[in-house]
Amino acid sequence: MTTPLQQLQSRFHLALENVLGDQVELPEILVAPASQPQFGDYQSNICLVLAKAVKQNPRQLAQALVSKLEIQDICQEPEIAGPGFINLRLLPSYLAAALTAKLGDQRLGIAPTPAPLRVVVDFSSPNIAKEMHVGHLRSTIIGDAIARILEFQGHDVLRLNHVGDWGTQFGMLITHLRTAYPYALTTPDALDLGDLVSFYKQAKQRFDLEPDFQTASRAEVVKLQQGDPESRQAWELLCQQSRREFQKIYDLLDIHLTERGESFYNPMLSAVVSDLLTMGLLVEDQGAKCVFLEGFTNKDGDPQPLIIQKSDGGFNYATTDLAAIRYRVTQDQAQWLIYVTDAGQSSHFAQVFQVARRAGWLPEHIKVEHVPFGLVLGAEGKRLKTRSGDTIRLQELLDEAIDRARADLQTRLEQEGRHESPDFIETVAKTIGIGAVKYADLSQNRHSNYVFSFDKMLSLQGNTAPYLIYAYVRIQGITRKGEIDVTGLATASHLCLGDETELALAKHLLQFADFLALVTQELLPSRLCQYLFELSQKFNQFYDRCPVLNSPEPERTSRLALCQLTAQTLELGLGLLGLKILDRM
Ligand code: ARG
Repeated sequence: MTTPLQQLQSRFHLALENVLGDQVELPEILVAPASQPQFGDYQSNICLVLAKAVKQNPRQLAQALVSKLEIQDICQEPEIAGPGFINLRLLPSYLAAALTAKLGDQRLGIAPTPAPLRVVVDFSSPNIAKEMHVGHLRSTIIGDAIARILEFQGHDVLRLNHVGDWGTQFGMLITHLRTAYPYALTTPDALDLGDLVSFYKQAKQRFDLEPDFQTASRAEVVKLQQGDPESRQAWELLCQQSRREFQKIYDLLDIHLTERGESFYNPMLSAVVSDLLTMGLLVEDQGAKCVFLEGFTNKDGDPQPLIIQKSDGGFNYATTDLAAIRYRVTQDQAQWLIYVTDAGQSSHFAQVFQVARRAGWLPEHIKVEHVPFGLVLGAEGKRLKTRSGDTIRLQELLDEAIDRARADLQTRLEQEGRHESPDFIETVAKTIGIGAVKYADLSQNRHSNYVFSFDKMLSLQGNTAPYLIYAYVRIQGITRKGEIDVTGLATASHLCLGDETELALAKHLLQFADFLALVTQELLPSRLCQYLFELSQKFNQFYDRCPVLNSPEPERTSRLALCQLTAQTLELGLGLLGLKILDRM
């Protein structure tokens, strides 16, 4: 099913072709949602845009266009306003029919894309033996939402976790493991190093203080790189320990990812160097092999190099990303590459993409996008830290959100004199706690920094997960009592939309697919949050004004259907953001 916007768009296209023939090439956007309600529901400024090119007065062009426009089944008589705007108002009968068509359809009438792409979404990607910090949390939450939305639209998404599981630090980590935990390799099951953060600190301290340890560590790196079986085993064991900790977070957040760490691309790194060399792109500069970049200059105005191989022969982060692009394009057959990391890595990606393009590893028709995001700040506007100044551990942060949600619930239960089972309390606490953390992140325009506040994200007021989930719960309460038969409704009845708030809600419901399309274009989940927030507000306005269960037929059924569609849209929308819903809370 197409949305009103899509339908208007194609009718405008036809009418314009009719009026102008092939005088001009038509722009992609001919109609848009109206900026203000007094201009109707949709508005077109196309006549103002085209007037000059076709040497006509915009108002006259608008008149000619309107006379050819066949939209009587969708809109009231179009209105030409000001210098040549065309204002459009949807017919209540059209709204009713379009909404009825959605009833009972799981996808709410939204068809999958006719042109599905193979998409790689590279997100989360923490580093072994370092803590998974709030930056990784943002990447995980935003990346998962983007992946879910693309999947819903029918794209073939590969969710990749580009874990930092390689590098010289493993020399000291393995050496520390061998000396401090001599039993580790023979009885790996007995080993529990937690998230390896303090293990890393101990190893680093020894590396800095003990010369013998340092020598052993350096030798260990070489052994590991040469593939020595025992070193590999120790490395694998360390990764395993970290991975177990990461998995706890993913389980709590309900995130599914395929791990393909940096080490995976190891065997492909030397070919990156030799192929760039053959192509004549590689230049030796002070012993390092690099590609000089176009459009990136240092402070003296000289072209900046991207180092591909260091003077000691080592490879780096960029080399691995180049190998990964080649692999994703040739082996994974990706047609669209998406990377979700903090904005601090923007120039890294711009540089890597440039080299990949120039080397022909990333053909023009393959889309590539870095999806950057801002910092997570504490209340004082500085980077989020614990009171003692340490970085916050994700597990503790998520546990605290759940604990606070549980406490809020218990207060409410006491006030309302309700008794609920421990199971109910746990489910609500977890759904609200985790949902609040995810939603607080997603509802911000990802380009900006955002201030992490438990009080705000857990509030029942405002653009928050509890507010939206509560709207859903409220509707569930109504429809439960209304005993509505959705399947029967879709065929038997017709919606009657009379009240202003009913019409506003109906129009908003029909814009869901347009918003999803926008989210995909800009990869901005915050747009979907804004849509869902407005939906809940419009629902609440409707529900304040229009009695549902106590109104006579045919309003009663019609209004129950509106409730039902709102609930379904909330459930689908929140699901696409990675949030769960509740029937009661
Ligand atoms: N491990 C990196 C970090 O923690 C993020 C990796 C992002 N993905 C990539 N292909 N470079 O900053």
